[in-house]
Amino acid sequence: MSALTLSTSSAATLRADAVVIGVAKGPKGPVVAAGAEAVDKAFDGKLAAVLEALGATGGEGETTKLPAPSGLKAPVVLAVGLGDAPAKDEDFAHEALRRAAGSAARALAGSKKAAFALPVEDADAAGAVAEGALLGAYSYRPAGNAAAAKKNDKADKGAPLAEIALLGGKPRDKAFKAAAERAATVAEEVNRARDLVNMPPNELDPKAFAAAAQTAGKEFGLKVEVLDEKALLKGGFGGIMGVGRGSDAPPRLVRIGYTHPKAEKTLALVGKGITYDSGGISLKPAGHNETMKCDMAGAAAVFAAVVSAARLGLRVNVTGWLALAENMPSGSATRPGDVLKMYGGKTVEVLNTDAEGRLVLGDALARASEETPDAIVDVATLTGAMVLALGNRTFGVMGNDDAFRTSVFEIAEEVGEQAWPMPLPAELRKAMDSPVADFANMGERMGSGLLAGIFLKEFVAEDIAWVHLDIAGPAYHESAPYGYTPKGGTGSAVRTLVRLAERTAAGDLG
Ligand code: BES
Ligand code: MN
Ligand code: ZN
Repeated sequence: MSALTLSTSSAATLRADAVVIGVAKGPKGPVVAAGAEAVDKAFDGKLAAVLEALGATGGEGETTKLPAPSGLKAPVVLAVGLGDAPAKDEDFAHEALRRAAGSAARALAGSKKAAFALPVEDADAAGAVAEGALLGAYSYRPAGNAAAAKKNDKADKGAPLAEIALLGGKPRDKAFKAAAERAATVAEEVNRARDLVNMPPNELDPKAFAAAAQTAGKEFGLKVEVLDEKALLKGGFGGIMGVGRGSDAPPRLVRIGYTHPKAEKTLALVGKGITYDSGGISLKPAGHNETMKCDMAGAAAVFAAVVSAARLGLRVNVTGWLALAENMPSGSATRPGDVLKMYGGKTVEVLNTDAEGRLVLGDALARASEETPDAIVDVATLTGAMVLALGNRTFGVMGNDDAFRTSVFEIAEEVGEQAWPMPLPAELRKAMDSPVADFANMGERMGSGLLAGIFLKEFVAEDIAWVHLDIAGPAYHESAPYGYTPKGGTGSAVRTLVRLAERTAAGDLG
């Protein structure tokens, strides 16, 4: 990942390949944002006029490259649009800063070092700029495949920025330093989740994913336990085994635990980790299976969030459960009509083998409940219905506790992840009635994203606050990059989970 440095230098004197400044959309044309004073001075105070003459408006995501005048050390100025100028006495929204920094970092791919002179009124704003720049500079670099990495660089118009220098803050101020350090850690972990999602499914099968957890566990002092297919069979994990049995790559359940000696609360995070979802015997048609390596994005987010908690030394226990399996059709695959005995004893009639996420999660939620954590959050690319309902950029937030669901939704908004609360209407449960099992893994089509949530609820102990995040839309970005969001894996939900852990550690939540 790119390196982050804090600098007291002026934007005029810092040695860099480019200086990034902000430009907002004002009522009468582009307005140069705070932080760019030294740069504007080098333009004899005419920077806004120059930008307007070049057609810049200050609109969100817009980037304009200018040759620097002689008063600047850097040869290039990059003006990045911040969107509408805030009302008088108001600062830019952190998400506007984060996205602008991301757009700038992407536009500077191919450069070595850029100085970011965006408007940072306080430490949190500086953290947002750092986070956006580090996330925007991401590029998937396949391990041990230099040729492919080079190709990606070309597609992204050059190697990602090697160094990001943050100006305008007060590097000697503890709060600024802490915000920058936090941003670097969180961005690195979001990028870890992105890497896992982007890995081809023949390279990241359940075993390889579990190995990655073990490696990180050693590096960051986490306790990692892996149940292999033998242990899963013996332990009665019928959901995970039922999904995984059609594949030559056997399933795994990983428990990755971070504990703090002074923790008062324990948070359990459960992730759907289908390393490839073909649909199984209920095979997906062509057109629906090309991106299904992304079906482990929930587990990747959980993994990255637990590692983040450890690296940030949060005063809370965080237990991650990664429910890993590959959903494939074969002679040994689960058939539509089979009945599975789930962990904890409930039976499920599998009517559609493509509704596999709820089967692996059911086992993991029941297992996580046994440890009586204070709260459980599961993260899953669970249903196409949620994508139809909320689109490609927003995840659904459901749960058994309205106050907790509201908290998680508000936290998502605070960290700049688009989310929306969704209900779990009790009447949908009846559609899953089965003549041969406690219930089926499918019901009616209408509201099927909510129905999936109701299925999961069956496996959560009733007295534990639980939230379900359906990230099927935002987990994998197929169209053009924007802001700090690249093509491919996005790292959706990592920042929400990390903030949730921080808030739990601070005792802000019930
Ligand atoms: N992994 C898919 C959901 C998905 C769809 C994720 C699009 C990302 C993008 C999930 O396992 C699935 O196939 N769900 C089915 C459920 C149905 C068979 C009840 C769906 O949503 O169509
Ligand atoms: Mn599926
Ligand atoms: Zn799936």
